[in-house]
Amino acid sequence: MGSQLFSLRYRIIISVVLIETIMLSIMVFSNASQVRQTHRDRLDQSAQIILQQFTATAGRYLFEVDYPSLQEYADNILAHDELTYLLVEDNNGNLITASGVLPIVEPLKVGMDDPRSNIHAVHSDVDLVGTRRGAVQLGFSTSTMDQAVASALQRGALIAGVEIAISIVAALLIGAYLTRNLTQLARFAKRYGDGERDLTVPIKGRDETGMVAHAFNEMMRRREIAERQRNESEARQVALRKELIHASRLGAMGQLSTQIAHEINQPLAATMNYLHAGRQLIANRTDGALEQIAEIFDKAIKQTERTAAIIGEIRGHLSKEDADMDAEDVNEIVLESVDLAMVGVPDSFITLDYKLATDLPLAVLNRTQIQQVVVNLVRNAVEAMAESETRQLKIETSQSDAETVEICIGDTGPGIAAEVADRLFQRFVSTKMTGVGIGLSISYAFIEAHGGRLKAVRNHDSGTTFKFTLPIAYAERGRNVA
Ligand SMILES: Nc1ncnc2c1ncn2[C@@H]1O[C@H](COP(=O)(O)OP(=O)(O)OP(=O)(O)O)[C@@H](O)[C@H]1O
Ligand SMILES: [Mg+2]
Repeated sequence: MGSQLFSLRYRIIISVVLIETIMLSIMVFSNASQVRQTHRDRLDQSAQIILQQFTATAGRYLFEVDYPSLQEYADNILAHDELTYLLVEDNNGNLITASGVLPIVEPLKVGMDDPRSNIHAVHSDVDLVGTRRGAVQLGFSTSTMDQAVASALQRGALIAGVEIAISIVAALLIGAYLTRNLTQLARFAKRYGDGERDLTVPIKGRDETGMVAHAFNEMMRRREIAERQRNESEARQVALRKELIHASRLGAMGQLSTQIAHEINQPLAATMNYLHAGRQLIANRTDGALEQIAEIFDKAIKQTERTAAIIGEIRGHLSKEDADMDAEDVNEIVLESVDLAMVGVPDSFITLDYKLATDLPLAVLNRTQIQQVVVNLVRNAVEAMAESETRQLKIETSQSDAETVEICIGDTGPGIAAEVADRLFQRFVSTKMTGVGIGLSISYAFIEAHGGRLKAVRNHDSGTTFKFTLPIAYAERGRNVA
């Protein structure tokens, strides 16, 4: 920036000096040539007077051919201080008299200055009573004229020098003034760029820099207003968003209670079943009852543990913690979850048909969530087949492609009711008297969180199959953990 500003000042000086030099040179030289012309006119005037006198007096000597008198008269005239020589010729061009110092160059062109001999020559015919008697040539020294011209040039150069010096000083001062203002503007612009606000450039005046400073201050003021407005509207938006979040949190609380109620309903019912069975065994006190009671207690404990896990999972979900994912054996989880879902369902009511892939790779999953998904799907299937003649539950696992395993839960129920088919996975969609319509929406969210897909397909013969995928666990790219 500094060198640029310097160059601006430098350029102003250069231009001023250049213009001044050209203008002043023209002035000085035209003045000198005017001085020269004035002197030449003066010399020509003197020549006229001398020639008039000469013709009046010397014409007679020429006529009488009295050359000695002519010579004497010419010598007398030569006493004129600027006259260097005087030549007289007869009618035939022969030199009659020559007085003074003759020019070096011959013949001298009349009316022209001879720079080599510093001579201004004037020529005239000598007429007497209308007849040409000869001619006279006068040579004036131009040294006075040359001196005058030289001193005019000198004076001009001196004045020009002083004027140029004054101009340089003026240009320096103006340049300093301009660059000072520009530097100040640049400094303020930089401070503004660095994020400083509330700036006012203290440059006054009606010149261009004053105008720029005024525009800068105006821009700053407008930006501040705009920024304040933006901040205010941002604050308003934040407040609005907070209100929204609060409102949706209230909604979420409602949802949460529904989810908890839905998810723990089944394990609670199962626990209750076990406890009733245990109570019965204690009342009857048959042989081997103690072992059976212990076994039933174990099952009840397992269900209670599951309830606790579900609540823990929901709480984790609420606090937005990512669910714990591990590489797990899908077949094992499926078997265990189907068992859990079937508690309270008489064995004779449903035919279970397993088709589990034997070499199934491990999948990355959250155990509790996938348990919930399987339980939800199995419960739905069992509920759907309540009125069916054939009640067959088909559970299938397989590796669907290089990246995923697939779990299918098929029933022989009536199929998806048309009125809910296109919003099956939405919340609170249910065709059941006692249903909340949350099981599928939760299951869908869980599978999605695993990066898998949950869908329902209509079976060829009868019923529906729900299918979902889970990602295969790879310790490193291309190699399965199992
Ligand atoms: N296997 C199935 N066969 C036929 N319809 C089904 C099946 N599974 C679900 N549906 C339909 O989808 C609806 C939604 O199921 P979802 O599990 O979300 O809720 P719900 O079972 O009705 O109630 P809950 O919240 O207690 O689970 C059911 O009401 C039912 O109409
Ligand atoms: Mg359900």
